[in-house]
Amino acid sequence: MGYYLVEGGGRIAGEFTVHGSKNAVLPILAATILAQDEVVLENCPQIADVQTSLEILTALGCQVVQEGQSIVIDSRTLEHTQIQEDMVCKMRSSILYLGALLGRCKQATLGHPGGCEIGRRPIDMHLRAFEKMGVQIRETDGILHCEAPLLLGYHIYLEYPSVGATENILLLSVKAEGTTVIHNAAREPEIIALVRFLRACGAEIYGEGTPTIMIEGVRKLHGAYMTIPFDRIEAGTFLCAAAMTGGKLYLKGAERQYMERTLEVLEQVGCGLRCEEEAVYLQAPTRLLSDFSLETGPYPAFPTDMQPLMMSLLTLAKGTCMMSETVFENRFHHAAQLCHMGANIQIHGRSAAVFGVERLHGAVVHATDLRAGAALLLAAIAAEGESRIYGSQYIARGYEKIEDALTFLGGHVRLIEQKE
Ligand code: UD1
Repeated sequence: MGYYLVEGGGRIAGEFTVHGSKNAVLPILAATILAQDEVVLENCPQIADVQTSLEILTALGCQVVQEGQSIVIDSRTLEHTQIQEDMVCKMRSSILYLGALLGRCKQATLGHPGGCEIGRRPIDMHLRAFEKMGVQIRETDGILHCEAPLLLGYHIYLEYPSVGATENILLLSVKAEGTTVIHNAAREPEIIALVRFLRACGAEIYGEGTPTIMIEGVRKLHGAYMTIPFDRIEAGTFLCAAAMTGGKLYLKGAERQYMERTLEVLEQVGCGLRCEEEAVYLQAPTRLLSDFSLETGPYPAFPTDMQPLMMSLLTLAKGTCMMSETVFENRFHHAAQLCHMGANIQIHGRSAAVFGVERLHGAVVHATDLRAGAALLLAAIAAEGESRIYGSQYIARGYEKIEDALTFLGGHVRLIEQKE
């Protein structure tokens, strides 16, 4: 708990190496349960959600050793199948332990998942797919009790390409009997990373990165070694920070092919970009420009996780941008906070009209979720005067020491810890 104290007027410039991806490492950590062996993961970001995952794995009985960005997990000693509700409530992706535990132990008990407050975020697609594959689900007082005497492959048709549902079905099906096909599967790079990991453990999976993924169940998996790929949302965050403060940034570790739409929009607002195989160089324009519309959607469309950050940038762009949020129904909480800093944004349901202003000013604002919090941090750096951003615990869920990184690059950001 705490807040970020930001002195505005900084210019984000220099060189930064992107960390490993939060959304890739979390499902892979859950998947280590299926390996029943030793797994070595490199380039893991040191963020609160990874700590929560390691607490879950330890509580289940796994041996966990973390040294910097390396994590070694041995799940041979796993002895429990129940995840305590306090851990589940901290992080929505804990729902993935349901698929992993069922795949390994044929039973799992789990409280209702928490995480960011961005809409209702139901798990109906996960549970419907599980039932089709033979999982019996009983819910008492919000606790899910699941058993799967026999797991059988099935053709699952997702009504929406949900990232979490695709991952959970993958985890459940790698050791199920027969063939599972996920139709309308999510195509996000994090799905590809999870499949690469499962395949390294001996799973038979085809078609990741396309809307149809086929899984041939195998009897046993084994240990593996994997380097977690770069975090495309952290990369986008730092690029936006440089773009809206008139800076220049050489971002190491970022690959254009996995963040094409984000980079296209940065070019649209006037940034100069030069992309290398594993680096992106951005030069901000003298004035950002808008007058276009932008819609979030499943990959490869513009990512919903970048929406708050791009909105923060667009508050300072000359012109008007119409933004539509199609992934989550309630993801504009940051707009009102940005308006406290002098932004001009009007919300109409799932659309937002962002009218660019010349400058923002410092204010006391509140983060309501991870990316909204980061969006406010960027606005505070670009603003004139001092800001306080409360809700630092949300930002720490997904960014490794962001205050140090931004300060190193020319921002003036301090984390002020407060006791609960
Ligand atoms: C993941 C990411 C999150 C990102 C999101 C969309 C992780 C840890 N989190 O979240 O950062 O914003 O993908 O790219 O990787 N839905 C249902 N029923 C379900 C499942 C989902 O209605 O059973 C809805 C959700 O409410 C939401 C939409 O589908 O409106 C997309 O959700 P989903 O793709 O599942 O997101 P997450 O996996 O939760």
